[in-house]
Amino acid sequence: MLIRNATLPDGRSDMDVLIVEGRIAAIEHGILAPEGVPEVDAAGQLLAPSFVDAHFHMDSTLSYGLPRVNASGTLLEGIALWGELKPHLTQGALVERALQYCDWAVAKGLLAIRTHVDVCDDRLLAVEALLHVKQQVAPYLDLQLVAFPQDGLLRSPNALANLKRALDKGVDVVGGIPHFERTATEGTESIRILCELAAERGLPVDMHCDESDDPMSRHIETLAFHTQRLGLHGRVTGSHLTSMHSMDNYYVSKLIPLMAEAQVQVVANPLINITLQGRHDTYPKRRGMTRVPELMAAGLNVAFGHDCVMDPWYPLGSADMLEVAHMGLHVAQMTSPAQIATCFDAVTVNGAQVMGLPRHGIAVGSDANLVLLQARAVVEAVRLRSNRLRVWRRGKPVACSAPVAAQLDLPGRPNSVAWTLPR
Ligand code: FE2
Repeated sequence: MLIRNATLPDGRSDMDVLIVEGRIAAIEHGILAPEGVPEVDAAGQLLAPSFVDAHFHMDSTLSYGLPRVNASGTLLEGIALWGELKPHLTQGALVERALQYCDWAVAKGLLAIRTHVDVCDDRLLAVEALLHVKQQVAPYLDLQLVAFPQDGLLRSPNALANLKRALDKGVDVVGGIPHFERTATEGTESIRILCELAAERGLPVDMHCDESDDPMSRHIETLAFHTQRLGLHGRVTGSHLTSMHSMDNYYVSKLIPLMAEAQVQVVANPLINITLQGRHDTYPKRRGMTRVPELMAAGLNVAFGHDCVMDPWYPLGSADMLEVAHMGLHVAQMTSPAQIATCFDAVTVNGAQVMGLPRHGIAVGSDANLVLLQARAVVEAVRLRSNRLRVWRRGKPVACSAPVAAQLDLPGRPNSVAWTLPR
């Protein structure tokens, strides 16, 4: 396939992109299509790598209101509510909701998702369900599973054994939740156990870490320490890290270089962090998101995740990673054109790096996992949370949408508008 006349995220325009056997084979001006190769006219719209969500919970998605809504809006009530729902889950319902969400994702150009899956249910129902879904969606979506001890590795009686069973069944990544253990000491111990388990099995680590407003919640320091000690550089991700928002600046000036030394990767979840954090504050209310621009400036890879869609923690969401980038840049005050582009990277190539997807991006040799956005530049795509005109998975079309335009009927004005300025 040849995609003609595309604008690329780096600003190059009128580019042709040739795709051969699912990979990008050439990116040039005026490529002559080989005989019989179908052509698509991008008409100057933005051709971007497909979106990546580096942090999600697919076992709880689309369960909003079951059995009730989260009245306080806090993380802790969400965990309690999920605990109420767990005994009533069925594999069929889990699979159905996950597949529904994957449909939404593909329609929004989101073709790779790392989902945490709760392993604190002795039946491992959600693990079985999501392993099934992973296999079913594999032709069109990369689903990666993290064994997540939601109720605490040491706090929940069978969590460690269940987590190992989940890894034995094929779950890809070791998860954790040190700030939810009974004490900070047990949180520290959980990190040691989990990092050693990952080292032993040659697996990556991705922990919910310091998801609180407590400036003294400092498990990320321990996570960086064990990453360094065990030589897990580049294989460990700290998700959330919201306590860093509230930490003492002097302490952070020591912490961030330690994280950089260990090559810890970071996932912030702007929609959820701005919603769940600061709930115990009066005014001023903290934003709660981790220190995204400072972490990026120190050379750490930072991605944005969606985290939740219509579940015990969050009533909204639609698998739209542009909405995530949009919220992320607001919360982090990253409003320059270069910073907006960086936030776009946080939901595309940076997320792919977290997931260890080596061939993601607009480059020769990359997988042709692409989305054609109804926008003429990255800033416009983020501003409009642009329509996804076409989505390709390894060069095969998997979704398309009609262009969006409002028809106006106003005296002396053009009769349609699509929210862009004239060139
Ligand atoms: Fe999460």
